[in-house]
Amino acid sequence: MNHKKRNVFRRTVKVFCFTCVCLLFGSSLAFAATEPSTAASSKGTIVKAGIPATSDMDVLTAIFTRRSVRKYSDKPVSDATIKLLLQAAMAAPSAKNTQSWEFIVIRDKKTLEQIPSFHPFSKHVPGAQVAIVVCGNTKLEAAPGHWIPDGSNASMNILLAAHSLGLGGVWTTFYPYADRTAGIRKLLNLPDHIMPLNIIPLGYPVEKGTYQDRFNPAKIHNETW
Ligand SMILES: Cc1cc2nc3c(=O)[nH]c(=O)nc-3n(C[C@H](O)[C@H](O)[C@H](O)COP(=O)(O)O)c2cc1C
Repeated sequence: MNHKKRNVFRRTVKVFCFTCVCLLFGSSLAFAATEPSTAASSKGTIVKAGIPATSDMDVLTAIFTRRSVRKYSDKPVSDATIKLLLQAAMAAPSAKNTQSWEFIVIRDKKTLEQIPSFHPFSKHVPGAQVAIVVCGNTKLEAAPGHWIPDGSNASMNILLAAHSLGLGGVWTTFYPYADRTAGIRKLLNLPDHIMPLNIIPLGYPVEKGTYQDRFNPAKIHNETW
């Protein structure tokens, strides 16, 4: 190879190497621009994986606009919707993750019509398309009494999930009233270790409540009472 040819060969090798470096650098930049960071992408995976459904209503809107609904239209509530509400209920936190809740789904109007005979504030219940009785299982609870907060968390999830799907409901309580508890225990044939917390009648609302600002700074105590 003479001197001239050697120079041409060297220049060709330099151009080739420069092109390779540019291609590698460019493609890594493009990758970085399109690929989220590991933390962000794993967060996305955690948030989305396995979730049964989503709603267009964000959680703060659901919290602030939920109101008790006691009048329901004739529009049926599907079994799939009830299953989704129960999935939301069972996603709630519970003491030691014991999930000490149990749920009884009632569609039979004849059953719902009997509830006001032993519950003075449940006249709205027979008008519901479907109702969920939230109970606690004292054989599963982390410590005596834990079935109450466990079931309460599940109840709030039902109410908020229902609201986010355009449904209405109201916590209609059995606990802590002995007469109401005895009435529902007899009606549904509940065993002794199953404690009825409330019934949540559900349906598509005929009327909707409006937002109430209940924020009260006097309720807030800093550091100590
Ligand atoms: C522990 C508890 C017990 C309740 N019991 C009844 C009830 O027996 N009957 C009823 O109609 N509403 C009942 N409610 C619904 C409340 O009356 C209602 O949540 C309250 O007036 C606030 O209105 P809002 O839910 O529209 O914000 C109960 C709510 C809670 C949290």
